[in-house]
Amino acid sequence: MIIKHNNIFPTFVSEFDLTGHESNSLVIEKIDTYYKKKDPTLYNNNRERFLNEPDLVELWKTFQECCDIYCEKANIKPVIVGSNWVNALQLDDNLRAHTHPTSVISGVYYPYIESEDTPLTFENIASPIIKEHNIRRIMRNVDNTAGLSKKDYEVNDMAFYPQNESLIIFPSYLNHWVNPSATHKRYTVVFNTLLYSERKAFQPYIRDYRIEPHEDK
Ligand SMILES: [Fe+2]
Repeated sequence: MIIKHNNIFPTFVSEFDLTGHESNSLVIEKIDTYYKKKDPTLYNNNRERFLNEPDLVELWKTFQECCDIYCEKANIKPVIVGSNWVNALQLDDNLRAHTHPTSVISGVYYPYIESEDTPLTFENIASPIIKEHNIRRIMRNVDNTAGLSKKDYEVNDMAFYPQNESLIIFPSYLNHWVNPSATHKRYTVVFNTLLYSERKAFQPYIRDYRIEPHEDK
């Protein structure tokens, strides 16, 4: 008897170390200003367009490059950076579980985070279904399947401890959250994406700054 066990449907979450990026201190300065002034008209009158600031174009380009690498590696169609915004968590602040609907992949950049801070946690996409179908009970008898142990099948979620000046890219459908922050300062720049082929429909709000200027001539 020939038996083949297959472990299917892996999920890609990628980490990019952007230490020393030229825009890092400017980003921190802008987030400081945003939260000090509490002025919703800062950054193009729209909190969701932070990265479209002309002086942040190099950071936009870097995020776009990371998206291109992710899409190539994950074998998905090219995307372009879309809506984006900043977030600052203070001690005990948390982020409730959520997904980013309508986006393809999403990214979160940490211009400032302390090493002992709370992780970003992703839920196993299969967890709700596994619970619903009570598969766990059956799995009790599984010793080794496709090179995995029973423990590997019991992963409900996975915690990522973000490094300062790093970017994490993940599929937007992944449910994720941050438990109460353990430090006084946790800054993030978050972005969503759309298919590159659909970008024209969203101009002038979404541009490819590698080939399109901020202002129309
Ligand atoms: Fe999120």
